[in-house]
Amino acid sequence: MKHWRIDEVDWTRFDRSKVDADILPIVKAAAMVERNGTDYAAYLNGVFADDPDFRQAADNWAIEEVQHGDALGKWASLADPCWDYEAAFARYRDGFHIDTEADASIRGSRTGELIARCMVETGTSSFYTAVADATAEPVLQHICRQIAADEFRHFKLFYDHMRRYLARENLSFLRRLRIAAGRITETEDDELAFAFHCANEPAARAYAHERCLSAYMSRAIAHYQFRHIERGMGMIFKAVGLPPRGRLSDLSARLAWQLMQRRQRRFAERSEPLPLAA
Ligand SMILES: [Fe+2]
Ligand SMILES: [Fe+2]
Repeated sequence: MKHWRIDEVDWTRFDRSKVDADILPIVKAAAMVERNGTDYAAYLNGVFADDPDFRQAADNWAIEEVQHGDALGKWASLADPCWDYEAAFARYRDGFHIDTEADASIRGSRTGELIARCMVETGTSSFYTAVADATAEPVLQHICRQIAADEFRHFKLFYDHMRRYLARENLSFLRRLRIAAGRITETEDDELAFAFHCANEPAARAYAHERCLSAYMSRAIAHYQFRHIERGMGMIFKAVGLPPRGRLSDLSARLAWQLMQRRQRRFAERSEPLPLAA
């Protein structure tokens, strides 16, 4: 079912001298969010209660997401033997909840839910490609390439189901665009910021959204190159029903790139050095 397995990764190639101190904390944070995939699958099972095909696909999807978390968690434990992946994830689970009892999408429709999923997979596929291109550590590079390929397949999976629901629900273009844009801005909500906190800060330190968001974002955005944004913009355009290649997509990618650079500088100004984890 899976396209690759953690025990097939050649962990002996791990090279401590090539671990980047600014990549390690974002890998730890990403492991939290990925591992939480099971809860999101429970939510999707409720939203698509009468669609057994999709429910099966969502369950398979979650198995891959959890594997992403475990692979990143294992790598981060090699890079930082003092780090406790399980304990960090237990803190994350305690403090960040997805409504696993919902019987309808928080996006207002199933098409909307699937568009939001496409945005998340666009983000993760770009993120892991950017990290793979940025790191010189061979095992992390390999894992991130495998994960990025999974995330691209996940995009396709949700996109195909979205087209099926779109034919039925007829969501307008503007509505689709609003949902896509809304999900992209949610990147700055608690999911990633709180993951950064649990994965990198001592349990005794109180969570502060702005501090943790700046710490995460300043490091994460710094590793993107323009080509990652260009490709991501093509995926966003495809998901909302616009031509993925062309002048509008190019212009949007260039604009997004400028905005991200500016945002990265703002986050970096606010970001504090990491305290030693307890
Ligand atoms: Fe993932
Ligand atoms: Fe994914």
